[in-house]
Amino acid sequence: METARLDGKKIAEQIKDEVAIEVAALQAKGITPGLAAVLVGEHPASQVYVRNKTKTCQQLGMHSEQIKLSPDTTTEQLLEIVDSLNRSDDIDGILIQLPLPDQIDDQLILNSVLPEKDVDGFHPVNIGRLVTGDYILAPCTPMGIMEMLKRESIPLKGAEAVIVGRSTIVGKPMALLLLHEHATVTLCHSRTKDLPAVCRRADILVAAIGRPAMITGDYIKEGATVIDVGINRVESESQVIELFGEESPRIATFAKRGSTLVGDVHPRDPYGIAAAVTPVPGGVGPLTIAHLMKNTLLACKARHH
Ligand code: GUN
Repeated sequence: METARLDGKKIAEQIKDEVAIEVAALQAKGITPGLAAVLVGEHPASQVYVRNKTKTCQQLGMHSEQIKLSPDTTTEQLLEIVDSLNRSDDIDGILIQLPLPDQIDDQLILNSVLPEKDVDGFHPVNIGRLVTGDYILAPCTPMGIMEMLKRESIPLKGAEAVIVGRSTIVGKPMALLLLHEHATVTLCHSRTKDLPAVCRRADILVAAIGRPAMITGDYIKEGATVIDVGINRVESESQVIELFGEESPRIATFAKRGSTLVGDVHPRDPYGIAAAVTPVPGGVGPLTIAHLMKNTLLACKARHH
């Protein structure tokens, strides 16, 4: 079977172009959507993510603020910052980059963001709305994936969808969104019995476990659509060769940078089995940022009616 690579980057560009058009229309009325991204500490990947998020805001004509706080920030200090962003008229969306340092009470902080400014969709009110189906702001990664499935015309109604990983950021909201589109949903995790057999039932298989290349050919049904949410850094040359093969251009990437990225899905195995697969990088990652921009726009429109 011929396996298509789903171009997340291209779809993300389409979504961002659509957002930019709406931002320009709002600006003509004197309204500029604004996003505040709060980063506590110096987690290297988080620094990159926050920089990309604020840069994308600027590209789309939105206002953005980066709030960088020292690693020893307390819960009380962070609560005060969230409170001032909740009250700021320039800010429509507030994003608290995760993970937060251990001394901070994560749930207390996420609960303190005004639900109407919660562009991550992590507030219990927004999670509740997602459960009922009456939602505006839902988590960006699963929303980006839904947008890709729709734009690629992948049938959802009655489809068997299997999600591996039950996180609050990806797995659980992904299950709800697919359920709302009338898929039959199975949510798997580390204790699931005979995981390969359950995954082989999937017309749509979503891997969100954070384990490099765990989903091998044995997990994939002929003709399935495979969505890879994993972003894992591989730092051993022998592992890069084993995963990508001796001929792969990844060997050169690795030689230049000392590491390369691999998803939760084996980078070669789905080809010839699946109908479509998202690459890493360039699959789900760009869609997450694009949907954050969309959520900021939606939050702004809702706040200004
Ligand atoms: N860390 C990893 N993924 C996410 C995300 O979607 N939002 C936030 N705020 N932090 C993250």
